Amino acid sequence: MQLIHALFVAALLACLALAHPGEKHNPAHLKREIAAQKAWAAHGKRALNTCARSESARALQARSIKRRELKTRELREKLAQSGKSHARRNANELSKWESTVHNKTGAYSSYDPAAVFNGEPSCILAPVITDGPYYIWGEYVRQNVVEEAYSQGVPMHVEIQYIDVNTCEPLPDLFVDIWQANATGVYSGISEQGNYAADGWNSTYLRGIQPTDKDGVAVFDTIFPGHYSGRATHTHLLVHSNATLLPNGTLLVNTGSITHNGQLFFNEKLRSAVEAASPYNTNTIEVTSNAEDMWAKQQASSQYDPFVDYAYIGDDISDGLFVWKQIGINSTADYINNSYYAIAGYIQEDGGFENTGAHSFSAGPSK
Ligand SMILES: *[C@@H]1O[C@H](CO)[C@@H](O)[C@H](O)[C@H]1NC(C)=O
Ligand SMILES: *[C@@H]1O[C@H](CO)[C@@H](O)[C@H](O)[C@H]1NC(C)=O
Ligand SMILES: *[C@@H]1O[C@H](CO)[C@@H](O)[C@H](O)[C@H]1NC(C)=O
Ligand SMILES: *[C@@H]1O[C@H](CO)[C@@H](O)[C@H](O)[C@H]1NC(C)=O
Ligand SMILES: *[C@@H]1O[C@H](CO)[C@@H](O)[C@H](O)[C@H]1NC(C)=O
Ligand SMILES: *[C@@H]1O[C@H](CO)[C@@H](O)[C@H](O)[C@H]1NC(C)=O
Ligand SMILES: *[C@@H]1O[C@H](CO)[C@@H](O)[C@H](O)[C@H]1NC(C)=O
Repeated sequence: MQLIHALFVAALLACLALAHPGEKHNPAHLKREIAAQKAWAAHGKRALNTCARSESARALQARSIKRRELKTRELREKLAQSGKSHARRNANELSKWESTVHNKTGAYSSYDPAAVFNGEPSCILAPVITDGPYYIWGEYVRQNVVEEAYSQGVPMHVEIQYIDVNTCEPLPDLFVDIWQANATGVYSGISEQGNYAADGWNSTYLRGIQPTDKDGVAVFDTIFPGHYSGRATHTHLLVHSNATLLPNGTLLVNTGSITHNGQLFFNEKLRSAVEAASPYNTNTIEVTSNAEDMWAKQQASSQYDPFVDYAYIGDDISDGLFVWKQIGINSTADYINNSYYAIAGYIQEDGGFENTGAHSFSAGPSK
């Protein structure tokens, strides 16, 4: 067992050199974090046997089922009214259950909201992983991060629910930062080797921030992310606690804590279905599968499933997706000094800039 663990660590360390060119990590840190993840998994199991089965946890779950059902219905009605819906699939096909647990489209069509939206049990601690080389500080609080330019793709409505693993209660008043590559694999706000955004450091497409409500829920309208070199398809999520919202709709710099740092992943079946559609099918960058991606492996634990659940909004995937995920986090943790937290750039009144200071928040943006 120990040997296997040692081999696993050695393999991970060997992978580091091949990982993202911009992602540098200290092997000692990584070893510590792998050990910490094992401890978290054990905690998750314990928590599940205690507070996750409580009355308030069950009531929360019931509200989540209802909320996701209403949102999916609202999105479907909007699509129907827009007249943009694709031709109806025949009834037989609609009633078919999917072989993968993540695709809830079939279940939704046969109208069993509890089966669709129940999801995995709450209170599972999600491992903390890297925010990668493309995090920008200073984005606007906005639900819709789809901009007119460079944001074409399959509409993706994301519902993330944050649960405190210490109490199994939802976490309101968090600010959740979202960012991802566009359909052809380019991030906004970064203009350097490996990622030249059109409009350079000033661009902000597919980036934004949302607060969580009383049920710990943050909602975003984005698109399904495209893939880029060396990484499996993913969407970044960073959680700020106790942050201060400024009158101009951004967060005050250097306040609050970083309570979680993670990425959403999408199973291969879903990714290949989306990427068969336009404009994803014009992306010529080689695909990296989840199995080939070290961060997808790190985001998973024996208890935590890194993949989103999803349902089609219309009959065709290009009509859009509703995706959801419940993420257990440690509300008292602060990853502000963690090696996985790095700020590549920042955007302010006079535009976007590279963070030329140390890649750590304590150094702060170089303003
Ligand atoms: C993605 O962004 C890049 C540059 O920022 C742009 O050249 C490309 O056209 C965009 N792709 C789509 C599908 O908008
Ligand atoms: C954040 O705010 C909560 C109450 O909203 C408080 O209990 C907690 O101690 C605060 N954390 C920090 C790091 O200030
Ligand atoms: C999801 O499920 C629907 C309905 O069963 C099916 O038509 C669709 O092909 C599935 N998509 C994927 C990516 O598995
Ligand atoms: C949560 O974070 C606090 C502060 O870092 C730490 O003492 C505690 O062990 C963590 N709990 C879990 C379950 O990881
Ligand atoms: C982060 O590091 C700075 C500088 O060493 C220190 O002042 C601060 O207390 C640290 N914060 C946390 C949450 O550990
Ligand atoms: C928002 O306001 C803060 C505080 O005045 C300022 O530092 C920041 O540059 C502003 N951001 C934008 C995008 O205007
Ligand atoms: C970036 O935005 C700022 C503020 O709007 C503007 O002054 C600057 O000219 C822009 N830079 C580029 C390269 O577009």
